[in-house]
Amino acid sequence: MITIEKIEQMQAHIMAERQKGKTIGFVPTMGYLHEGHVALLKRAREENDTVVLSIFVNPLQFGPNEDFERYPRDFERDYAIAKQAGVDIVFYPSVHEMYPHEPSVTVRVHERIDVLCGKSRPGHFDGVATVVTKLFHIVMPHRAYFGMKDAQQVAVIDGLIRDFHFPIELIAVPTVREEDGLAKSSRNVYLSDRERQEASALYAALQKGKATIEAGERDVETVRKAMIDYIERHTSGVIDYVEIYSYPELQPLQSLRGKIILALAVRFTNARLIDNIVMNVQ
Ligand code: PAF
Repeated sequence: MITIEKIEQMQAHIMAERQKGKTIGFVPTMGYLHEGHVALLKRAREENDTVVLSIFVNPLQFGPNEDFERYPRDFERDYAIAKQAGVDIVFYPSVHEMYPHEPSVTVRVHERIDVLCGKSRPGHFDGVATVVTKLFHIVMPHRAYFGMKDAQQVAVIDGLIRDFHFPIELIAVPTVREEDGLAKSSRNVYLSDRERQEASALYAALQKGKATIEAGERDVETVRKAMIDYIERHTSGVIDYVEIYSYPELQPLQSLRGKIILALAVRFTNARLIDNIVMNVQ
């Protein structure tokens, strides 16, 4: 495994790999790797000749009140995890390397952002789309791997790839879960013992919503209420949102049909947890 810090060097290396006929799988991250990232890396390892992991905490996607400086960083730990997962190249640029001057062009996302988490994070997905566009040009992958835990990010990247004609296959990897269904997240450690027990109710609420639809319910509000009621009865958390939209368009629905997402965000004392499931409704 090698580490590359310079854009020019990364592009030269990848061009040589592509000329040898190798397929490139790319996992973009902000580091501080956890089991969700490892699932992406494993999938990329299975499906490609060369696996590239990028580690870059992107200042453009942090709002003024979100702490870019305090975002956790531990390169040595990440390096060991990446090596274990079979990564070939770690792309690890500095902020100055990625943004040597105030960007003269950025990407603006117009759709799929005014709902769910995007609603409370103005500009966040513009920052994500801008850095992912840059990373795609630098790493030139055949396939890019993103976790479905951030389903809205996957929807935005899906639109980016389509609208900017990137010849890249988007691979959305299912959320990794604890045995009781709780989606794995580095934030779970901020839950008290009691909250940790309660938190399994989030996935159970999504399952309840799914079961209600599978039993024939097609009214959005009825299914939402079933999920809200479940969360309120089983947790002390405060609901941020429980929503149902078309997926990946993230449009409101009159009636439940086609590919849809059931998504929720719940605040506990020191952690805000998100989760979702995507399903096809006949
Ligand atoms: O999901 C993330 O870690 C980031 O949003 C990404 C895709 C690496 C862009 O900075």
